[in-house]
Amino acid sequence: METGRSLPFARRRHLLGLLVGIPLAATTPAALRQGGERPAMKIGIIGAGNIGGTLARLWVKAGHRVMLSSRHPEQLTELARQLGPLANVGTPAEAAAFGDAVLVAIPYGSYPQLGRSLGGALAGKVVLDAGNPTSSRGPELADEVRANGIGATSRKYLGNPRLVRAFSNLGSGILAREANRPPPRLAMPILGDDREALDLASRLVSDAGFDPVVIGTLERAADTAMGGPLSGVQTTAAELRRRLGLN
Ligand SMILES: NC(=O)c1ccc[n+]([C@@H]2O[C@H](COP(=O)([O-])OP(=O)(O)OC[C@H]3O[C@@H](n4cnc5c(N)ncnc54)[C@H](OP(=O)(O)O)[C@@H]3O)[C@@H](O)[C@H]2O)c1
Repeated sequence: METGRSLPFARRRHLLGLLVGIPLAATTPAALRQGGERPAMKIGIIGAGNIGGTLARLWVKAGHRVMLSSRHPEQLTELARQLGPLANVGTPAEAAAFGDAVLVAIPYGSYPQLGRSLGGALAGKVVLDAGNPTSSRGPELADEVRANGIGATSRKYLGNPRLVRAFSNLGSGILAREANRPPPRLAMPILGDDREALDLASRLVSDAGFDPVVIGTLERAADTAMGGPLSGVQTTAAELRRRLGLN
């Protein structure tokens, strides 16, 4: 499990490097430009690193409000400043309370600790779960994930939210590079057991710049986890549906 300040700080420097030079126009709320057909949402981001920072930028670009969170929120002030007025900063508990939906993008081994520190704030919330247990980051949960599945394991440690697995299958560099590419956009397979949560997650995946494809329930969530058959697969929604036999 990761602790302390040194690594996150290094990652934030990297993220800030990616964000420097984003023209102001790029953060003009697209939802507002579209005449506000769909109201902007509030998204809590728990884990504002490679994945969380990248998605925060994409969602701000789409006009959503984000709360970036950290156990050391003061370290995120500069990142939020760069993202503009739609971004603010808080603790993980504050981000959980803030979000109409919450992205969890922290090392998998930190899930039990996060669940304890949130004190049930995620219960019933729509949570997009990008986490992957890896040998270096969360090996202690790997056996449980193998036995019970990653969907059930995430749901257990995150306090029984309305969980959707999303953004776990592609690297953050790919997300940053391929988001909103000219059609056909890149597909993002998502899984969940709750129809409304899947609808909301689909909207957020789309607003981040990808074509959501609901490929099943949490039972088959291993498909998009690291090492699963869809891990690293970059394809279109039509091709993904064809490959999986979905209509
Ligand atoms: N990187 C990728 O390309 C990629 C792709 C697909 C899936 N994933 C998965 O997505 C997750 C995040 O990966 P990442 O590369 O974005 O990680 P990262 O850059 O290392 O960022 C993780 C963030 O989690 C926060 N964190 C760590 N422990 C925490 C805790 N106990 N409570 C609250 N926050 C905590 C850290 O913030 P503070 O220390 O400031 O609190 C840190 O900023 C991982 O599970 C990874 O396997 C990553």
